[in-house]
Amino acid sequence: MTLELVVDEELQLKEFRPEDAAAIFNLIDRNRAHLSQHGDDTAQKYPTETVVYESIVHPKNPQRKRFGMWSEDTLVGSINLTLEGHSAEIGYYLGSEFQGKKYMTRSVRRIVSYGFDELGLKRIYAKVHVQNMASRAVLMAAGFSFITLKGESAIYVQNRNITTT
Ligand SMILES: CC(C)(COP(=O)(O)OP(=O)(O)OC[C@H]1O[C@@H](n2cnc3c(N)ncnc32)[C@H](O)[C@@H]1OP(=O)(O)O)[C@@H](O)C(=O)NCCC(=O)NCCS
Repeated sequence: MTLELVVDEELQLKEFRPEDAAAIFNLIDRNRAHLSQHGDDTAQKYPTETVVYESIVHPKNPQRKRFGMWSEDTLVGSINLTLEGHSAEIGYYLGSEFQGKKYMTRSVRRIVSYGFDELGLKRIYAKVHVQNMASRAVLMAAGFSFITLKGESAIYVQNRNITTT
């Protein structure tokens, strides 16, 4: 069964399925320059639809939980968590034509609550190119805190809120 996380009435996150390979490839292929503008290697990793399909059926890192972001039947982007014990790294991208609608901020909030509440994570972090101001704004809006700079990367972290009753 495919894991689905409802973000809101407009957006759903669905764990990658083999039948999504064409939609994922088309989204990446239309957005190669957009995805690579800050040195990210997503576009380079997926030169063909077959490579995308193989990455779903035989993932190189099974600890990376990858979701498609769906608005009805349209794939608008992708978001993932790479699990490392009680921590996870978050990563994501949107098709350029779907920017400016807060899709990513809303999806980051949803996957963070999934990570904390359903996976029992204690810490989620992100590494973002220091000049990627849109991504940095997404993280701040979704509750992350800026921690430090490491080379060209800005590191953001969100810790699970422990509430005592
Ligand atoms: C990063 C990305 C997901 C942001 O998408 P988006 O649709 O702009 O996201 P949202 O609408 O949820 O929010 C973007 C925020 O950044 C701000 N923003 C957008 N472009 C900006 C820019 N060039 N400079 C400064 N802020 C910017 C917006 O005003 C908004 O801030 P607000 O919530 O305070 O109003 C999208 O640009 C993307 O996919 N980029 C390519 C891949 C990528 O960089 N992935 C992240 C790798 S770490």
